[in-house]
Amino acid sequence: MWLTVKEAIKAEKVNNDVTVKGWVRTFRSNRFIALSDGTTIHTLQLVVDFENFDEKLLKKITTGAAIEATGLLVESQGRGQTVEVQVKELTVLGEASADDYPLQPKKHSLEFLREIAHLRPRTNTFGAIFRIRHHLTFAIHKYFNDRGYFNLHSPIITGSDAEGAGEMFRVTTLDLQNPPKAEDGSIDFTEDFFGKSTNLTVSGQLEAELGALALSKVYTFGPTFRAENSNTSRHLAEFWMIEPEVAFADINDNMDIAEDFLKFCIKHVKETCPDDLEFLSKRREDTEKGLPQNQRSDKTLLEQLDFVLENNFERLTYTEAIDILRNSKPNKKKKFQYLIEDWGADLQSEHERFLVEKHFQKPVILYNYPKEIKAFYMRQNDDNKTVAAMDILFPGIGEIVGGSQREERLDMLKHKIADFNIEEEEVWWYLETRKFGTCKHAGFGLGFERMMMFITGMGNVRDVIPFPRTPKNAEF
Ligand code: 4AD
Ligand code: MG
Repeated sequence: MWLTVKEAIKAEKVNNDVTVKGWVRTFRSNRFIALSDGTTIHTLQLVVDFENFDEKLLKKITTGAAIEATGLLVESQGRGQTVEVQVKELTVLGEASADDYPLQPKKHSLEFLREIAHLRPRTNTFGAIFRIRHHLTFAIHKYFNDRGYFNLHSPIITGSDAEGAGEMFRVTTLDLQNPPKAEDGSIDFTEDFFGKSTNLTVSGQLEAELGALALSKVYTFGPTFRAENSNTSRHLAEFWMIEPEVAFADINDNMDIAEDFLKFCIKHVKETCPDDLEFLSKRREDTEKGLPQNQRSDKTLLEQLDFVLENNFERLTYTEAIDILRNSKPNKKKKFQYLIEDWGADLQSEHERFLVEKHFQKPVILYNYPKEIKAFYMRQNDDNKTVAAMDILFPGIGEIVGGSQREERLDMLKHKIADFNIEEEEVWWYLETRKFGTCKHAGFGLGFERMMMFITGMGNVRDVIPFPRTPKNAEF
């Protein structure tokens, strides 16, 4: 019977013959093979009686080699594992020369592993991360499906750049050497594939709104692209975003949904990936051992996840946050790079981190931001100064969710798009939903990789996505 490593170590029946396949992690004393097949963080011990096997074959059992083994699954004599396989037949499926296989059994830096992103899934850390990524994806679909939302596939190529969420990547089939020109000398995009200028989407929100105004509750879950040249540990040029959109919901409903949703996802991953989380929690503790006390986390990863589950997120308005920041120590002592003086200032990540990590020490939802620093589609509040926007800030991450109640009043929306210099022709379809059967609605966007960073405790967004896309980096 062919078993995965995960099945073998959980097997209820022992003392029968099994076949296993996987990659060699280590081969000790010409006798013990630690086999991994990626189905679990654990390895399966294979015991080889070297007298029964050809020496030439045993030489090929090196770290990284793909093998197949058949033998008796028995309760283990040794410590550290419950079962092991007493190997009767052994085949090397694919060798991995010890001279140049880069993943030898020792500690490799995350920076080095990024350079071998084609092999890093074979390490314990990345195996754990990519299994968790799968389960988090599943949790997201489950959360919405169980609550009557429909998954809406918003387009990846878009002809609108109204959202203004960031710089865009152009999509074109025009000859870059010799593009067609209009009379005024500009590039003539009517000759392009779609007959207009197109880009990769920065968000599926505007389309999600169209969906919500027909199906009541929808969510998108797709790749989004931002061509900002920001080389930070939290920004990717290609990342995945989840954008629920709910008709008849307001900003308070939006906050309730987002908090419930984030907690559900954490809980689901805790339930489905306990071993991987325990490994990553231990990993972070080990990594931080070398750091000075004030740079170490005050909680283990697992404690931090529980903490978020057990506490309500702190909700406060932008105006309240500005008061706290203005009177804060780092502001008074001029420790902030950007000092908070006047109402209306955009919050930088140093301010967000202060609120979350120092002041409240828990997740924070900020809402009702000045209209000038937020997007055109956010609903204007009665004070005429703020919009019903919300950002959720997480410890160690900063902004993880951005959302709002949407402007559903046609006249107000028209004013706003004029203020933002957006042509009505460009968003005529969006405006029509306000003309025909408009209603209040709200939604938000969760950055999938930011959530992955929080759940796995990884400090760099490049290490929670299989093949990161960042400025000057699109290998693999
Ligand atoms: O705050 P953002 O720009 O919001 C939107 O795009 C809205 N359309 C969402 C909505 O209301 N439906 O992005 C949402 C989230 C951020 O909070 C952040 O978690 C993540 O997407 N994000 C990024 N993640 C990785 N790399 C980047 N460059 C990101 N930019 C935003
Ligand atoms: Mg945002």
